[in-house]
Amino acid sequence: MLKRTHNCGQLRSSNAGDEVVLAGWVNSYRDHGTGLIFVDLRDRYGLTQLVFDKEDCSPELLEAADKLRNEDVIAAKGPVRIRDGGPNPKLETGEVELVVGTLEVLNKTDNPPFLPDDHSDSLPGEEIRLRHRYMDLRRPKMQKILRTRHRVTKIARDYFDEHGFVEVETPVLCKSTPEGARDFLVPCRMQPGTFYALPQSPQLFKQILMVSGLDRYIQIPKCFRDEDLRADRQPEFSQIDLEMSFVGREEVMEVMEGYTRVLFKELAGIDVPAVRQMTYREAMDNYGIDRPDLRFGLELVDISDLAAKTDFKVFTGALAKGTTSHDRGVVKAIRVPGGADKLTRKLTDGYTEFVKQFGAGGVPVAKYTGQGDTSGFETGISRFIEPMAADLVERLGLEVGDTVLFGADTYPVCSKALGELRIKLAKDLGLIEEGKWEFVWVTDFPMFEWDEETKRWYAMHHPFTAPNEDQIEAFMAAEPSDHEAIGAIVSAGYDLVLNGSEIAGGSIRIHRQDVQSKVFGLLGMSEEEAKAKFSFLLEALRFGAPPHGGIAFGLDRLVMHLAGTDNIRDVIAFPKTQTGSDLMCEAPGAADAAQLDELFVKSTWVAPEA
Ligand code: AMO
Repeated sequence: MLKRTHNCGQLRSSNAGDEVVLAGWVNSYRDHGTGLIFVDLRDRYGLTQLVFDKEDCSPELLEAADKLRNEDVIAAKGPVRIRDGGPNPKLETGEVELVVGTLEVLNKTDNPPFLPDDHSDSLPGEEIRLRHRYMDLRRPKMQKILRTRHRVTKIARDYFDEHGFVEVETPVLCKSTPEGARDFLVPCRMQPGTFYALPQSPQLFKQILMVSGLDRYIQIPKCFRDEDLRADRQPEFSQIDLEMSFVGREEVMEVMEGYTRVLFKELAGIDVPAVRQMTYREAMDNYGIDRPDLRFGLELVDISDLAAKTDFKVFTGALAKGTTSHDRGVVKAIRVPGGADKLTRKLTDGYTEFVKQFGAGGVPVAKYTGQGDTSGFETGISRFIEPMAADLVERLGLEVGDTVLFGADTYPVCSKALGELRIKLAKDLGLIEEGKWEFVWVTDFPMFEWDEETKRWYAMHHPFTAPNEDQIEAFMAAEPSDHEAIGAIVSAGYDLVLNGSEIAGGSIRIHRQDVQSKVFGLLGMSEEEAKAKFSFLLEALRFGAPPHGGIAFGLDRLVMHLAGTDNIRDVIAFPKTQTGSDLMCEAPGAADAAQLDELFVKSTWVAPEA
């Protein structure tokens, strides 16, 4: 076999006259009938033009060249020469070509299912690309993403090493680590009837490592969560996971910001400024979401006090809703500058349908004309909003030509509906500037969230998150039945948000056993249950647990931002589909009866009748 001397992105005019060997895939083949055959040879590093000069080629070489097809794997040997027709500025190797004297066909390909060409018009749908992922990953775009991903983890390992972090691997076959999703279970053959859970994160292990005195831990682990998938969620994903002892949230944030700064400088050429902080309450009040996209305005404004002056049933009915300060009724408004011209009737009608999926009744709309009838608004609800018209103009800073969109419901429903609508509006109106990066820390989350359906509290981060230091006494004193008091406890959790996506989440942890036990109790876990699930943690907390805290970046999401894609599957070499399938290796698949017997597992699933 010919031994490769250079790669396909390497040759320059200074190589002219050198005898070289290149190896790679046939990217294209052109015979213009001019006595020359051109082949573009591709590998990970680039493309180089090969040329077969029919006059100088042996008949065997010509015959072999003639049979070349896209994606054949070949090696070619010959001298490098300056291109006859002048340089090709589109290729880094565009000054030169290799005149083939010897050709070795290393592997003829079958007719490929598609060509690894980045141009979307020739690319098949994602399902076909995932089925033939080896072909898809040959695309320059995918290769670039894999390299970006490699850089992200390499920079992480270097950065955290320089800052005293030690990489420790934690088990994949372990016990349930609750992060709010369902567990993937693995039956244990050696102990029939028992199961390992795949880790939703290394949360408990990294805390134990702090109790062990490791002081600073890092790992780039795989995490497994059986939850409904979204565009930025996979059942199996990676984190950049860290934990630190004797720190408050400032130190964790500082070290994470430091990494973010190095990363974005190196990979995107961006100077990340000091990241601003926003409380959960501010985020929910002004953006209706705990991961606000700050690349555009369109803030939500509470106008409940003004709406109370009207006798518009949609408003007054909403204001009468709710029993606690957390689910009180509110009326909120979004000012859309220049909306009168930009928002067509079709769009605003669509918004009513849009918010219904979040439980809201609709979106009343009003155009501010500053004239006409007494309210100064052109709207079907003009008569109703008249009593608050002047105050509304002032509160929202309205200018003639603006449109106002209203939401009226309980605080959670109104926030969710208008928060999602705000993002949709920004997309519809083209308000999101390309190349803008808006980082924000969201802090001071409530510890617990009440779920009306299941009538129980849920931990907003995870059950190991501590109350804020100034909240511990209030938390320990609060009666579980006192919704107002429990709902008001603020945690020491923090999320890092980039352009509306949560790229990292963490917290200062509970390091007192009594506090941890109370949290478990509130979450509806009996003492026995807590012991059965987490006895090792509760025990460790009794034996000299230092105060500690940490955070985990979603590695895949980070790479999505750096690669400029909104599809998480683009940044994972072998991802799963929305229904959890790996289309290439056809996982998951049925297990044969013998295997199941060995595991003492029996499937109760019955295929639905066709
Ligand atoms: P959390 O659950 O917030 O925290 O996860 C940390 C980050 O991981 C990413 N992420 C995901 N990415 C892809 N697919 C998923 N299904 C998925 N779920 C989460 C997000 C998120 O911000 N143990 C804690 C961390 C800690 O407290 O230190 C944890 O796992 O970007």
